[in-house]
Amino acid sequence: MRPWPDDRIAFGGDYNPEQWPRGVWADDMRLMRDAGVSFVTLGVFSWSWLEPTKGEYEFGWLDEIMTMLHDNDIAVDLATATATPPPWLSAAYPEILPVDREGRVRWPGSRQAWCPSSPVYRDAALDLTDRMATRYHDHPALAMWHVSNEYACHNLPCYCDTCAAGFRRWLERRYGTLDDLNAAWGTAFWSQRYSAWDDVLPPRLSTTFGNPTHELDYHRFGSDTLLEFFLAEKEVIRRHSPDVPVTTNFMTLSSFRLLDYHDWAPHQDVVSTDHYVVDALEHPRAELSFHGDLTRGLAGGAPWMLMEQSTSAVNWQPVNPAKLPGDTILDSLTHVARGADAIGFFQWRQSRAGSEKFHSALVPHAGEDSDRFREVCELGAVAGRLGELVGSRVEADVALLWDYEAEWAVAGPCMPSAELDYVTAAHTVHRLLRDRGVVCDVVHPDTDLSRYRVVVVPTLYLVSDAAAAAVAAAAEAGAHVVVTYFSGIADAHDHVRLGGYPGAFRDLLGVRVEEFFPLRVGEVVGLEGGGQGTVWSEDARLAGATPVLAYAAGPLAGRPAAARREVGAGVAWYLGTLPDDDTLATLLGRVMAEAGVAAVADVPAGVEVVRRSGDSGSWVFVLNHTDAPCEVAISGHDLVTGADVGPVTTVAPRTAAVVREG
Ligand code: GLA
Ligand code: ZN
Repeated sequence: MRPWPDDRIAFGGDYNPEQWPRGVWADDMRLMRDAGVSFVTLGVFSWSWLEPTKGEYEFGWLDEIMTMLHDNDIAVDLATATATPPPWLSAAYPEILPVDREGRVRWPGSRQAWCPSSPVYRDAALDLTDRMATRYHDHPALAMWHVSNEYACHNLPCYCDTCAAGFRRWLERRYGTLDDLNAAWGTAFWSQRYSAWDDVLPPRLSTTFGNPTHELDYHRFGSDTLLEFFLAEKEVIRRHSPDVPVTTNFMTLSSFRLLDYHDWAPHQDVVSTDHYVVDALEHPRAELSFHGDLTRGLAGGAPWMLMEQSTSAVNWQPVNPAKLPGDTILDSLTHVARGADAIGFFQWRQSRAGSEKFHSALVPHAGEDSDRFREVCELGAVAGRLGELVGSRVEADVALLWDYEAEWAVAGPCMPSAELDYVTAAHTVHRLLRDRGVVCDVVHPDTDLSRYRVVVVPTLYLVSDAAAAAVAAAAEAGAHVVVTYFSGIADAHDHVRLGGYPGAFRDLLGVRVEEFFPLRVGEVVGLEGGGQGTVWSEDARLAGATPVLAYAAGPLAGRPAAARREVGAGVAWYLGTLPDDDTLATLLGRVMAEAGVAAVADVPAGVEVVRRSGDSGSWVFVLNHTDAPCEVAISGHDLVTGADVGPVTTVAPRTAAVVREG
C-alpha cells in the first residue's frame, strides 16, 4: 500500500469545482498554491454531475480538474460520489428512499436520501464506484479513495420494510432461534413474545416505551448494515486499485453516535474523521481534544486524518459565531497534537448558492483579500513546516474506555435518570486530566489495557463479562482503575446484573449499591470537605473498600461517595457521583500521583500540552487557549515560529508552539 499522508502534514479540504464556472478553476489553482494546499477531496456530492441521466456519463470535467490539480502538485482524495443519489434515481426507484420512525418517507431534495438496506441503491452505487475506480485508478493525482461520506448521517435509522426484512436476517444470524431472541429481548415482559420471525419489526413508533434490547439491536443492525455497504464499495475499488489507501470519513464528534466505529476502524487503510466545534457546549475545545484522542484510539494509536473541520462559522446551529482570529490555526494544531497527520476542511471555496452558502470555507465570500484567507495561508505555511512529525505517535499512560454500545444502551428508554449520560462522565474526567497536562487514550473496553497505569471506566452502563474481567485484571496487574457511577449495571443484552449494583464491578470495587438516588436537574448534594455532587448519587455500602469521600447531606449523609480498594498490585477507585470540578480534580490528582502518571509539562489553566514522539525525535505541543501569554518549561526548536526556545517557552495568546525537544 502506498502510504499517505507521507512526507508532510497534508493540508486542504473538500473541493467542489462543479459549483463554479471554469473561469474560477484557474484562480482556484493559484490560490491553492498560495495557501500551501497539498490535497483536496473531490466528488463527494457529484453523482448527478457524473451521471446526469441513467447510464449517460460525463467524466470530462473531472478528468480536466484532476489534471489541473496534478499539474499544480495537489494530491486528490477521490470520492466514490455515492453519498447522495441523483434525482433521476429516486424518481425511477422510490423504494430507495428512507422512512422515519413514524412511517414518513424522507423525500429527495436534501442529501443522503437512501435506505441503508436498499439493494437497488447499493447496485447503483457499486456500479458508479466501479466506473470511478476503472477510470481513475492509475491517475497520477490519485492519493486516496474516499468512500461515500459520513455514513449514517441523515439516513440512519431507517424503518422501511426493506430494513425490516434485513433486520430479521440479521437477528437470525445473531440469535439462531426465536427462543434465544425472546430470551435476549426479555419478551416475557408486556406480552412481547415472538412466535415467528416475520412478526419482528423495526422499533417503529409505538404506544409508549419500546423494548430497550430491541432498540439496542436496531442500533447494532444499522451500524453493521452500513459497514457491509462500505466493505462492498471498498471491494470494488480494490479490484482496480490495490495500492491506493481507502477511507471513509467518520464523525467522531461527540454528538454523533450512530455507528460503532470500533467495528469500522479496522477496515480503514487510514482512519479519517470530521470535526466541528459546537458552540453550545460548555467546553467546546475540551470536546475537540477528546475527539482527537478518541480518533487516535480508533486508529489503534496510528496517525489519522482530520478530513473536515471549519475555518470559521458553521451554518447548522441556531446561531453560528465566527471563530476568533488564530483559532483556525490553534484548532488545527490541536488535532495534529492528538495524532492527526492531515488538516482538512469543508470546503475550499464558500458556496454562492445552496444550503451551505453561509458555512465558512478556506476561500470566504469576501475573497482572497480577507483576514480569513490570510490565516488560511499562514496555516498552510505552518503545516508545511511540520513534515518531520509525520508518522510520530502520542504516548499516554491513561486509558479511558469508550464504547458505542454502552452509549446506545444508556441512552435507551426508561432509565433511572435522563441526565445519565456516558459522554458527561467521560468528558469531565478527560477535561480535568487535560487541564493538568495528562493525555488519555480513548479506547474500546476490549483493548489490551496492560500498558496503562490508569484505566478510567466512565458510566460504562453496559459491559460484557470479558471486558469487566479485563478491567479487573488490569487492576490486579498494577493499574489504578477508576470506575464512575452507573457502570457495570447491565450485560451485553442490556439485562441487569443482579445481587447489588454495580454488578460487573462490585467485587473489584468492594462496593455494593442497593438503590439509586439520582439528583434532579440542577440539584446538588453536599460532600464532606466542602464539595458538591451532581447528576447522581447512590446508596453504596462498602464491602472491602475504604471511603475516600462521603455525602455530607441529604438521604445519604455519611455514606461513601468515593472509595478505594487495593487489588493485587493495583487499586480500584469507586466514584458514586459527579463531583464539582475542584473536588474531582483533587481526586484525580491523587490517583495520578499514586499511579505515577506525570504531566507532559506543568501548565497554567487553559493551556493544553501534548507530546508526539517518533524515530527522529519528540515534539511538545503547547496550545494556549487563553487570552494571556503563557510560560511553559520546554526547550528546543519551535516549528511554528522557527525559533529556538527554552528553558522556558513563552506562547502568545491563542497560539501554539510545536517544540522539537533537545
Ligand atoms: C459534514 C459534511 C460536509 C458539510 C459539513 C458542514 O461534515 O460531510 O459535506 O456538510 O458537514 O459542516
Ligand atoms: Zn430502509
